[in-house]
This record gives sequence, C-alpha cells and structure tokens, in this order.
Amino acid sequence: MNSSKKTKRYQSSTWIKLCPIVFIAGMFVLEACAAKDTAANVNIKAGQSCSTSDCHPKMGKDAYVHGPVATGDCSFCHKQENKDKHIFQPIKNVEALCYECHDKLDMGSVVHQPVADGNCTGCHSPHQSANQFQLKGDGPGLCYECHDKSIGGGKFVHGPVAADGCVVCHAPHSSDSPKMLMAEGNDICFSCHSDKQDEFAGKEFVHGPVSDGCIECHSPHSSDFQFSLSGESTQGVCFTCHEDKKDEIAQVTVKHGGLETDRGCMACHNPHVSSFPQQLDMAPMDLCLSCHDKEYKHADGVSVANMKILLDNNSNHHGPIADKDCSGCHNTHGSKDFRILRGYYPKKFYASYNPDNFKLCFMCHNDTLVKDAKTTTLTGFRNGDQNLHYVHVNKTPKGRTCRACHDAHATKNPKHITDTVPFGAYQMPVGFTKSNKGGTCLPGCHQEFTYDRDNKVKNR
Ligand code: HEC
Ligand code: HEC
Ligand code: HEC
Ligand code: HEC
Ligand code: HEC
Ligand code: HEC
Ligand code: HEC
Ligand code: HEC
Ligand code: HEC
Ligand code: HEC
Ligand code: HEC
Ligand code: HEC
Ligand code: HEC
Repeated sequence: MNSSKKTKRYQSSTWIKLCPIVFIAGMFVLEACAAKDTAANVNIKAGQSCSTSDCHPKMGKDAYVHGPVATGDCSFCHKQENKDKHIFQPIKNVEALCYECHDKLDMGSVVHQPVADGNCTGCHSPHQSANQFQLKGDGPGLCYECHDKSIGGGKFVHGPVAADGCVVCHAPHSSDSPKMLMAEGNDICFSCHSDKQDEFAGKEFVHGPVSDGCIECHSPHSSDFQFSLSGESTQGVCFTCHEDKKDEIAQVTVKHGGLETDRGCMACHNPHVSSFPQQLDMAPMDLCLSCHDKEYKHADGVSVANMKILLDNNSNHHGPIADKDCSGCHNTHGSKDFRILRGYYPKKFYASYNPDNFKLCFMCHNDTLVKDAKTTTLTGFRNGDQNLHYVHVNKTPKGRTCRACHDAHATKNPKHITDTVPFGAYQMPVGFTKSNKGGTCLPGCHQEFTYDRDNKVKNR
C-alpha cells in the first residue's frame, strides 16, 4: 500500500478535531482503582489516566499499539454512562466506530464474511497486539482463530502457507475474485510459479484438468501427498478421475513392466502439458524404445528382446511400426494376452486352425487370406490358384502359425518373412527369396519350393 493511500484512509483532519476531546477525556478521573471496589463503583478523578500500574496496566505496552490507545485516549471509543462512574456505554456498532476515524475500506465484489458483518475486532484488537495492524494472530494463526487448522495440516504443506501465511493469496477484507483471492483461476498460481507458466505456454496438448484449474489436482494449502496432490503422486492422483483406467489395469492378467516403475504413470505421461497426443512425454514409438533399447533378462531365463536393435538391424518395418505406432498391437496398460497384445496370438509354431487364434493379425488384415483353398485374389502367397496360406495354416492340429514365416516387427526380407524361426531349440532357416510373380522358399521344413501366381509351378 502506498503512503498517500494510507494517509487518505486515516483522516487526520478528524483526528485533529478530536484533540480537544482527548484532552477533556483526560480530565475524567478515575478514583483509586486500587480500592478493592467493583469496577462500576470506581469513581473517576479528573486528569487520571486509565492505564496505571493498578488499572489496565498492560494497556499500551504491546509491540503494536493502536494510535488512540498510544495517546492514552480511551474515551473516544468508551463513553461513560455516568460522568462519575466507571460504567461505559456498550459499543453497539464497532464498524461505525472504526469509520469515525478511518476511511471506509475499498470493497471488492467478494467480501469476507466477518468484514461484511462489521466484525472488525474479529481480527483487529482495538487496543494493541504483538502483531502488526493490531492483528489478533500471527500469520495463519489469525485465520485459524475462525477457520479449521486442518487447512494447513496435511503432511505436505504448500510453500507459502508454511512460510508466509494466508494473505499472500487471500485478501483479508475483500477482492474481486472468488474466495477473496488476489487473482482468478490459474493466474494465482502463475503469479509465483511463472516458470511453470513459461513451460506450459504454447504447448499443443494441454491436459483437460490443467485448463480447468491447477486446484483440480493440487491443494493450494496442504495435503497428505507429495506436491500437495489430491492423491499419491505416481498414480493415485490419476485414478481420482480416470477410474476406468484403474479398473482396466487391475483386471489385466499380463502386466506391463513399464507401469511398475517408481514413476508410475509419469514414466510415460506428463500430467500438465505435452507436445504429443495422450499427454505422452515423447513421440509414442520413441517412448517405447526409450526403455526397450535394452534386453530385460530374468533369473528364470524369460527375457524381453532389445527392440531398438531389432528395428535398427532390420530395415523392412511392418506397416504400423513404419507409422511409428506400437500401440496398434500392444496395450501399454496391460492385457489378457501374452506380450500385452491387443488380440490373441499363438505362442507356438503350430496351432489348430481357427480364425480366433489369429485375432491379432486379423484386427487389420482380412482373415479370408487363409480361408479358401483356391483363390486368385485373396492372397499373393499362392501358386496359380492354390492358396499357400491355406496349405500351411488351415490345418488341424498342426497348422503353422504366422510366426512360422512372418515377424511382427521387422525383417530384412520383403513381406516380413523372417530369416529364421525358433523350432524348439533350433533356429530354423526360412530361406525366402521373392520374385516378381511369386517366390522361392528353402526352409528347414522341406526342399526348395517355388510359387508363381500366374503360371503354377510344379514342385516335383
Ligand atoms: C478505537 C476504539 C477504542 C479505544 C481507543 C479503546 N478501546 Fe477499549 N474497546 C474497544 C472496543 C471496540 C471494545 C470491545 C472489544 C470487542 O468487541 O471485542 C473494547 C473493549 C475494552 C475493554 C473490555 C475488555 C476487552 O479488552 O475486550 C476494556 C477494559 C477496554 N476496552 C479498555 C480500554 C482502555 C483502558 C482504553 C484506553 C487505554 C481503551 N479501551 C481504548 C475500543 C476501544
Ligand atoms: C479515534 C480514532 C480511531 C478510531 C475510532 C479507530 N482508529 Fe484505527 N487508527 C487510528 C490512528 C490514529 C491510527 C494510527 C495511524 C498511523 O499510524 O498511520 C490507527 C491505526 C489503525 C490500524 C493500523 C493501520 C496501519 O496502516 O498501520 C488499524 C489496522 C486500525 N487502526 C484499525 C482500526 C479498527 C479496526 C478500528 C475500529 C475497531 C479503528 N481502527 C478505530 C485511529 C482510530
Ligand atoms: C478476517 C480478518 C480481518 C477483518 C475481519 C478485518 N481486517 Fe483489517 N486487516 C486484516 C489484515 C490481515 C490486515 C493486514 C493487511 C495485509 O497484510 O495486507 C488488515 C489491515 C487493515 C488496515 C490497515 C491496512 C489497510 O488496508 O489500510 C485497516 C485500516 C483495517 N484492516 C481496517 C479494518 C476494518 C475497518 C475492518 C472492519 C470493517 C477490518 N479491518 C476487518 C484482517 C482483517
Ligand atoms: C473472525 C472470524 C474469521 C477470521 C479471523 C477469518 N475468517 Fe475467513 N471466514 C469467516 C467466516 C464466518 C466466513 C464465511 C463462512 C465460511 O465460508 O466459512 C469466512 C470465509 C472465508 C473464505 C471464503 C470461504 C468460501 O468458501 O467462500 C476464505 C477464503 C477465508 N474466509 C479466508 C480467511 C483468511 C485467509 C483468513 C485470515 C487472514 C480468515 N479467513 C480469517 C470468518 C473468519
Ligand atoms: C497459494 C495461494 C493460497 C494460500 C497461501 C492460501 N490459500 Fe486458501 N485458497 C486458495 C485457493 C486457490 C482457494 C480456492 C480453492 C477452491 O476453490 O477449491 C482457496 C480456498 C480457501 C478457503 C475456502 C474453502 C476451501 O478450502 O476451498 C478457505 C477457508 C481458505 N482458502 C483459507 C485459507 C487459509 C486459512 C490459508 C492460510 C493457512 C490459506 N487459505 C492460504 C489459495 C490459497
Ligand atoms: C505466493 C507465491 C505462491 C503462489 C501464489 C503459489 N505458489 Fe506454489 N509454491 C510456492 C513456493 C514458495 C513453493 C515452495 C517451493 C520449493 O519448496 O521449492 C511452492 C511449491 C509448490 C508445489 C510443490 C513444488 C515442489 O517441487 O515440491 C506445487 C505443486 C505448487 N507450489 C503448486 C501451486 C499451485 C497449484 C498454485 C495455485 C493454486 C500455487 N502453487 C500458488 C509459492 C507459491
Ligand atoms: C492432472 C492433475 C494435475 C493438474 C491439473 C496440475 N498438476 Fe501440477 N503436478 C501434477 C503431478 C502428478 C505432479 C508430480 C509430477 C511428477 O512427479 O513428475 C505435479 C507437479 C507439479 C509441480 C512440482 C513439480 C514440477 O513439475 O515442478 C508444480 C510446481 C506444479 N505441478 C504446478 C502446477 C500448476 C501451476 C498447475 C496449473 C497450471 C498444475 N500443476 C496442474 C498433477 C497436476
Ligand atoms: C481432475 C480429473 C483428472 C485427473 C486427476 C487426471 N485426469 Fe487425465 N484427463 C482428465 C480429463 C477431463 C481429460 C480430457 C478427456 C477428454 O478430452 O476426453 C483427461 C485426459 C487424459 C489423457 C488423454 C486422453 C485423450 O484421449 O487425449 C491422458 C493420457 C490422461 N488424461 C492421463 C492422466 C494421468 C496420467 C493422470 C495423473 C497424472 C491424470 N490423467 C489425471 C481428467 C483428469
Ligand atoms: C509405459 C508407458 C505408459 C505408462 C506407464 C502409462 N501409460 Fe497411459 N498411455 C500410454 C500410451 C502409449 C498411450 C496411448 C495409447 C494409444 O494410443 O492407444 C496411453 C494412453 C492413456 C490414456 C488415454 C487413452 C486410453 O487408453 O484411455 C489414459 C487415460 C492413460 N494412458 C492413463 C494412464 C494412467 C492413469 C497411467 C498410470 C496408471 C498410465 N496411463 C501409465 C503409455 C503409458
Ligand atoms: C518406462 C519404461 C518402459 C516404457 C516406456 C515401455 N516399456 Fe515395455 N516394458 C518395460 C519393462 C520394465 C518391461 C518388463 C521387462 C521384464 O520382463 O523384465 C516391459 C515389457 C514389455 C513387453 C513384454 C511384456 C511381457 O510381459 O511379455 C512388451 C511387449 C512391451 N514392454 C512393449 C512396450 C511398448 C509397446 C511400449 C510403448 C507403448 C513400451 N513397452 C514402453 C518398460 C517399459
Ligand atoms: C503388428 C503387431 C505389432 C506391432 C505393431 C508391434 N509389436 Fe511388439 N510384438 C508383437 C507380437 C506378435 C509379439 C510376440 C512376438 C513373439 O512372441 O515372437 C511382440 C513382442 C514384443 C516384445 C517382446 C519381444 C520378445 O520376444 O522378447 C517387445 C519388447 C515388443 N513387442 C515391443 C514392441 C515395440 C517397442 C513396438 C513398436 C516399435 C512393437 N512391439 C510393435 C506384435 C507387434
Ligand atoms: C494394427 C494393424 C496391423 C496388425 C495388427 C497387423 N498388421 Fe500387418 N500390416 C499392417 C499395415 C498397415 C501394413 C502395410 C500395408 C501396406 O503397406 O499396404 C501391414 C503389412 C503386412 C504385411 C506385408 C504386406 C505387403 O503386401 O507388403 C504382412 C506380411 C503382414 N502385415 C503380416 C501381419 C501379421 C502376420 C500380423 C499378425 C502378427 C499382422 N500383420 C498384424 C497393419 C497391421
Ligand atoms: C508358410 C509361411 C507363411 C505362413 C505360415 C504365413 N504366411 Fe503370410 N505370407 C507368406 C509369404 C511367403 C507371403 C508373401 C506372398 C507374396 O506376395 O509373394 C505372405 C504374405 C502375407 C501377407 C501379405 C498379403 C498377402 O496375402 O499376400 C499377409 C497380410 C500375410 N502373409 C499374413 C499372414 C498371417 C496373418 C498369417 C498367419 C495367420 C500368415 N501370413 C502365415 C508366408 C506365410
């Protein structure tokens, strides 16, 4: 507050007009209050001070003494009922009394209830106090005179609540923002966290609740969770809104190790803003490869391959991966199918034919490619009109699964045909060579066979 405003608020002219009254008031006398009479019977002698070693001895001794009290003037506020007796008129309207000397407070549109009620002495002692502005409490202590202490009582207390109290954010009398805040919405937060404002500015993807308000997740005061969040910072806070995700993750049978790190959801998501959709920290595939750039080995021998190396070493990337999307096939949050796949895919080299066995591939590819024995359209893997997918896959019980020939991620060969396929402990070669109208295979399964879509080849 600038001093000119201060001067204006306290009308010195009024004070000067009051000087004679002060003097006359001093003329009223208290007879020895030491006399062990009841206060009402005390006679007041002219010229006697109200504050002596016997009467109101502490008055005027605190660190902050209200102007008129400092000058020993009691009578402006306390009017005697009877000029000889120590009986005073009750102060019926405190606010009006304050405004006899002070300018009316500038009121914003949102007024604090005790101010609206004229209860100025709810916060200010009319006499003195240990605190500036004769406040009845220090920092938050003042507010806790009426508000529940639990506001600042969580395990994690927001910096300014711990350090400076409440009036850095709330105007004590009134303001133009809800809850008498100094600024509205996220602006109150950005008034101190300007680094965050800079960080968030211009980001393409803003998490829904961040635009709704920081307080959707952070308590401005305190909470039992780190960063004053409304839930535990790694995932609990997310589940307060994304309940469906909580249920989904609880129900999956194949868990993703990526969710089990001590960063929780924050291993992949940014709670505030992002340059990528879905609040992801990086472009989706880069994100996967930021962890899957190494092999994960287990004591029992189970391991997860180094996917980055596999992609680096095999330049023919499968469609979705060429589009930089691993989530077409994998559900990052877990799944009921092995390898967190989005659909069933057999683990083994052989499986009885059933389109349900290949749900994963048939999410994107047409299942007719293995259905009909004869075709000239459904697949390129045919010898004349003989459907070689049908020949290999459509068998019971020993139908070959897609993995017998294809790799889901990347290969050196066209059509995602692998070089080798594990057959028990044996890395069996596939031996595929593509030609214009077909191809040749020399796998570990049989001698060299050639197929040609236009001119059916007789392979002995
Ligand atoms: C600016 C006005 C003002 C002045 C000056 C003032 N008082 Fe008061 N006083 C009040 C008000 C208002 C109350 C009632 C307090 C309340 O409502 O909580 C009060 C209450 C009191 C009480 C009752 C007990 C208490 O503390 O609440 C005593 C005693 C008292 N005043 C003594 C004095 C004495 C002695 C002086 C002069 C040294 C003095 N006052 C000067 C406004 C004043
Ligand atoms: C008799 C006149 C008078 C009355 C009545 C009066 N005040 Fe004051 N008040 C003063 C004077 C004089 C000062 C000292 C001004 C200064 O130092 O700038 C003061 C100072 C204050 C201050 C400190 C202001 C500052 O900037 O440091 C507060 C707070 C205050 N009064 C509140 C009240 C309240 C609340 C009431 C009603 C209960 C009240 N006053 C009634 C005369 C009065
Ligand atoms: C809820 C508590 C509360 C109530 C009620 C309250 N005040 Fe205040 N008042 C404060 C606080 C806290 C400050 C110190 C302001 C600051 O730190 O910015 C203050 C400061 C003041 C000041 C000095 C600074 C200024 O703004 O000029 C005056 C004068 C004042 N109050 C008068 C009043 C009057 C008159 C009333 C009743 C109409 C009143 N107050 C009611 C808490 C209160
Ligand atoms: C003399 C009692 C009293 C004191 C002291 C007091 N308040 Fe209040 N305050 C109230 C009352 C009464 C209400 C209105 C009822 C309610 O909403 O709790 C209120 C309401 C509020 C509200 C708005 C609540 C809402 O939901 O709209 C805020 C914010 C607030 N006070 C902050 C403070 C701060 C900060 C302080 C300390 C500077 C403080 N209060 C000191 C009595 C007080
Ligand atoms: C960092 C700024 C900030 C500080 C410091 C702060 N508050 Fe608040 N306070 C807020 C915001 C923002 C809200 C609005 C919360 C909402 O709308 O849910 C609020 C709301 C309130 C409310 C209304 C009830 C509620 O919880 O929503 C009260 C009462 C309150 N504050 C009291 C206090 C008290 C007492 C202190 C000091 C212990 C304090 N505040 C310190 C920002 C702050
Ligand atoms: C008056 C200044 C101020 C305002 C306003 C303010 N803060 Fe803070 N905030 C701080 C300070 C100071 C710290 C403590 C910084 C530290 O410990 O490094 C802090 C800490 C935090 C932290 C924890 C940071 C950490 O690294 O532990 C979060 C989260 C936070 N504030 C969010 C908010 C939100 C949300 C709002 C708006 C409701 C807000 N702040 C308003 C000053 C403020
Ligand atoms: C969806 C909930 C959510 C919302 C809304 C939210 N935050 Fe956060 N915030 C978090 C989480 C979770 C963390 C902890 C991040 C971590 O562990 O990396 C955090 C951390 C912080 C931190 C401390 C750590 C850091 O990143 O510096 C600050 C400061 C912060 N938030 C400020 C804000 C501000 C300001 C807003 C409003 C513009 C806001 N937050 C809105 C969830 C949220
Ligand atoms: C206060 C409620 C709330 C909290 C807490 C919350 N979110 Fe959100 N989240 C939303 C809303 C609302 C949307 C926007 C939904 C929409 O636009 O359809 C959203 C969107 C998202 C999206 C993007 C979805 C999409 O389709 O673009 C992701 C990812 C997300 N949240 C993750 C998180 C994570 C991680 C956390 C924990 C840090 C979290 N959320 C905490 C409410 C919340
Ligand atoms: C290992 C990385 C990773 C972790 C950890 C992770 N997510 Fe995701 N999340 C993703 C990816 C990738 C997507 C985008 C999926 C897509 O495009 O289908 C996503 C999408 C989302 C979406 C929006 C789309 C949807 O699936 O509904 C929400 C909400 C979401 N995640 C919440 C969470 C929550 C809550 C957590 C913590 C329990 C979490 N995520 C942990 C990677 C992760
Ligand atoms: C934060 C690191 C991290 C990120 C990011 C991550 N993962 Fe993982 N992922 C792991 C860990 C850890 C395992 C478990 C390794 C183990 O078994 O020891 C794992 C396991 C897997 C497995 C094997 C699951 C099983 O149990 O058989 C697949 C498949 C997988 N991740 C795919 C992905 C995909 C796709 C993405 C991107 C959407 C991704 N991961 C992002 C850490 C991560
Ligand atoms: C077209 C579907 C598909 C896409 C797209 C896909 N995967 Fe896979 N992924 C699979 C299948 C099927 C398996 C199981 C392979 C097996 O058992 O031989 C698998 C297995 C894995 C494994 C475990 C590897 C192992 O055998 O040790 C990891 C890690 C993995 N994928 C990561 C990724 C990453 C990272 C991406 C994106 C770059 C991705 N996947 C994209 C289908 C896909
Ligand atoms: C998420 C969708 C998706 C899934 C699931 C999927 N694919 Fe693909 N696949 C594609 C896309 C897209 C292409 C590229 C098509 C193009 O370039 O015309 C492709 C191309 C292929 C090709 C090469 C086709 C050509 O003509 O070059 C083969 C072979 C293939 N996929 C096999 C599989 C197998 C085996 C599976 C199951 C493990 C599978 N796909 C699962 C989307 C998918
Ligand atoms: C015996 C090896 C073998 C098996 C098993 C096999 N494929 Fe193929 N597939 C091929 C060959 C070879 C081609 C390349 C045909 C050409 O264009 O010359 C091919 C091509 C494809 C294509 C490209 C479109 C087309 O039909 O030409 C898709 C898609 C495909 N296979 C999916 C699958 C799926 C899904 C499975 C499992 C249900 C599967 N394949 C099983 C060898 C196989």
